[in-house]
Amino acid sequence: MSTDREALERTAREMVADGKGILAADESNATMSKRLEQVEVEPTEEARRRFRELVFTTEGVEEHISGVILFDETLRQSSSDGVPFPELLAQRGVIPGIKVDTGAKPLAGAPGEKVTEGLDGLRDRLAEYSEMGARFCKWRAVITIGDGIPTDYCLRTNAHALGRYAALCQEAGLVPIVEPEVLMDGDHAIDRSYETTVATLHHVFRELFEQRVACEGLLLKANMVMSGYDCPDQAGVQEVAERTLRSLRQTVPAAVPGVVFLSGGQSDQRASGHLDAMSRVEGLPWDISFSYGRALLGLSLETWRGEQSNLAAAQAALQHRARLTGAARRGEYSEEMEQERDQVAAAS
Ligand code: 13P
Repeated sequence: MSTDREALERTAREMVADGKGILAADESNATMSKRLEQVEVEPTEEARRRFRELVFTTEGVEEHISGVILFDETLRQSSSDGVPFPELLAQRGVIPGIKVDTGAKPLAGAPGEKVTEGLDGLRDRLAEYSEMGARFCKWRAVITIGDGIPTDYCLRTNAHALGRYAALCQEAGLVPIVEPEVLMDGDHAIDRSYETTVATLHHVFRELFEQRVACEGLLLKANMVMSGYDCPDQAGVQEVAERTLRSLRQTVPAAVPGVVFLSGGQSDQRASGHLDAMSRVEGLPWDISFSYGRALLGLSLETWRGEQSNLAAAQAALQHRARLTGAARRGEYSEEMEQERDQVAAAS
């Protein structure tokens, strides 16, 4: 293996170091603005900056968080005292990363399906991001389950784009997080989620192989295999853990250092419970960890509501969620730990 590849592998392994995972703070401006409006904060660039500053300056989260995924705007922003965010994170031992796709758009000729864009000019953008301190990237493909979908065309097209993205990242010395997210919207049973996830991952790893991407220097960001959100018969925690791991064993080479999960629309508690159940399984070929957005930040944003006077309580909420998610990543989470939150609230 060349030294470049070794450096990629070292970074990928650092991102899934013991007890640690990734914080996805890469909501696009449109998504972050929507989240701010939900808690009645005017969605300005400064409001987005203030919330991210709150997050990045929360003490102690680096014990559980190895890296943070940023959005382009955030990578270019600084703390109130003028330290660029990527530098602030690096000073705290947290690896800065960047979302580089430009979003999922309708796939031509395929009603109801999407393809993720962002390949044009990507080589130059990666060079700039690397210069600015980013060490890893993220690209998210979105797969929808519905009547007659996903089609093979949609799976192939998204997998091809993920392959092109990942190859360009590795060329630039950046670790690609490869994220093909199968959405859990719908009333389908868990079997359908399982089959779709296996087919999706199969396409993705074939493309990665064909496009000469080194498995050692990437992380897979995967969905958990669950019942559709509107399915009347919801699979329990053990079944979700078992089906998810089975889908990964079918498709993900052992050379991949880690699989990190997204939280999707799960409650904070479910996101921790599912991760915990999978972390307790011994003998897996890859590290299992998290790359959560909402399940780490939701409570903190709701507590903050844009008020300076809520800052300490909002940071305590993030510390709480990071601690519990870190515990789940080690297989040491229990639902009783959720009560800590009431103690946090009482103390603030
Ligand atoms: P959620 O954990 O909120 O699903 O976000 C993770 C993410 O980055 C999806 O791309």
